[in-house]
This record gives sequence, C-alpha cells and structure tokens, in this order.
Amino acid sequence: MPAQTNSPTAPEVGTATLSVRGLTKRYGDRTVLDGLDFDVGAGEVVSVLGANGSGKSTALRCVVGLVRPEGGSITVAGRTVTPGVPLSEVAMVFQRIHLVPRRSVLDNVCAGALGRLPLAQSWATWAFPQDLREEAMACLDRVGLADRAHDRAGRLSGGQQQRVAIARALCQRARVLLADEPVSALDPAAAESVMRLLHSLATEDRIAVAAVLHQPDLARRYSDRVVGLAEGRLEFALPAEELGDHRIDELYAADYRAEGAAL
Ligand SMILES: Nc1ncnc2c1ncn2[C@@H]1O[C@H](COP(=O)(O)OP(=O)(O)O)[C@@H](O)[C@H]1O
Ligand SMILES: [Mg+2]
Repeated sequence: MPAQTNSPTAPEVGTATLSVRGLTKRYGDRTVLDGLDFDVGAGEVVSVLGANGSGKSTALRCVVGLVRPEGGSITVAGRTVTPGVPLSEVAMVFQRIHLVPRRSVLDNVCAGALGRLPLAQSWATWAFPQDLREEAMACLDRVGLADRAHDRAGRLSGGQQQRVAIARALCQRARVLLADEPVSALDPAAAESVMRLLHSLATEDRIAVAAVLHQPDLARRYSDRVVGLAEGRLEFALPAEELGDHRIDELYAADYRAEGAAL
C-alpha cells in the first residue's frame, strides 16, 4: 500500500499512475467540472463520492477519453493524455455492463484487446488468435471465472458479468481501471465480491483503481483514499479510515444547498 496522505493532489512527483490537474468541463453555460485535481497511485483504490450531478461520471469519462474537457491536464504513468483520445492503459467499467450477451464470455474478454489487433482480426470476425485467447483465459482466471469461458455472456449473473467486464479491462492491459458505480446494480454479496476483486487488483497487480460508489461503508472498507466531489470541485480527500459520518453528511448537504439555490 502506498504511503497515505491527506491530499491526493500532492503525492511525491512521479508516484501517481493517474494524475488529474485543473480538470474543467462545461456543458453550455453550466460548469460541471471546475478545476478538479486528483491522483490515483499504482496499487491504490480511490473511491469517489458525491451527490447526483456532482460531476463524478464526467470526471471519469474525461480520463477515459469519452468526454473532451475544456481545460486541465491528465497524465497516465507520466504521459499526457490528449483530450478526447482514449489510451489503452486506461479502461472503464460501468453500472450498466456492456457485454455482447450472445457471444461467449471468452470472446467478450478478448474484445478488450481490439485496440491492438490488426484490422483483419477485427471485432466483426470474432476470429481472435490463439495467443490472445490464452491471454484472455488467464484474465478470466484472475477474476475467478475461467470455468465459465465458453458460456454465453448473457447467461451469467450481474456480479459475474461485472467481473467479466473487469477481465476485459485486464485483457486490454489497462494499468488504470475506472469504475463508475460498478456495484450499484448488484446484490450485496455480488457487490462485495466485485469490491474484493477491485481491491486485490490494486494490491496484487498494482493497478490504479478509481471507483465511484454510493456506499460509504464499501468505500471505507475497500479503498485506501476517498475523494468527495461537490459541484465539480474537490470537497475533501482523505485516507479511507478518516472518512467520518459528518464528512458524508456535509458532502451531500452541500449539494442539496446548491440544488436549493438553483431553484
Ligand atoms: N452530455 C451532457 N450534456 C449536458 N449536460 C450533461 C451531460 N452529461 C452530464 N451533464 C450534466 O453534468 C452534471 C454532472 O453529471 P455527472 O458527471 O453525470 O454527475 P454524477 O455522475 O456525479 O451524478 C449534471 O448536471 C448533468 O446533468
Ligand atoms: Mg454518475
């Protein structure tokens, strides 16, 4: 586990795998991200908390290249990410799990490598080379689902499908894994298993994990640090064990005040 700090904005230079500085995003005249700073180190799980609309998804979407920010910088392992251009080292999983349900679990995991395959072996053909299939099988084994490799993805439970989506990110060889409410649609036992997996990917595989959660209890138990967002700004950044209930109450109260002010 990396040394913990009260400020995710000021780790030792060069230690953060993902580093976000001054991230700004506007939709029309609405500022959704307002100079956001945060870091995620290799081997670390950072939970992102905040009320609906505080900018959590937009922040992660900027990092993965799905949304183009107006300002700020994003670096991954020291390399600057061009706004709006995805980087293979960064993968994202979502609450709504995007697998191809009629394809095998193994094919879905192989799809994580599409970005580095020649066009001739494209997604349309599903003719993944043997060495990739072996790599995908190892990724499935890592998430505990090697025995389901040849089932149709749509037959798996929600928790298993989320683990397949994580295996697909591993097959992409991601070093930064962003998870946007990865357990919001899961029952408590499945949520625990996904959080355990994310935690072990950080501690054992040294992946940098950032997870948007709505469950402070999961954030405390499975993350190293917690960042709180309100109105697109960093409200706090704390070691997980210092996340007191009052911080949670203040975080959501701040957003409700803002909502009231906007009415
Ligand atoms: N594509 C979009 N167009 C316009 N407004 C958007 C778009 N995406 C998000 N927003 C707005 O940006 C704000 C932050 O959204 P989001 O990042 O999804 O918040 P969170 O994930 O914290 O709930 C919200 O007010 C939302 O309505
Ligand atoms: Mg969201």
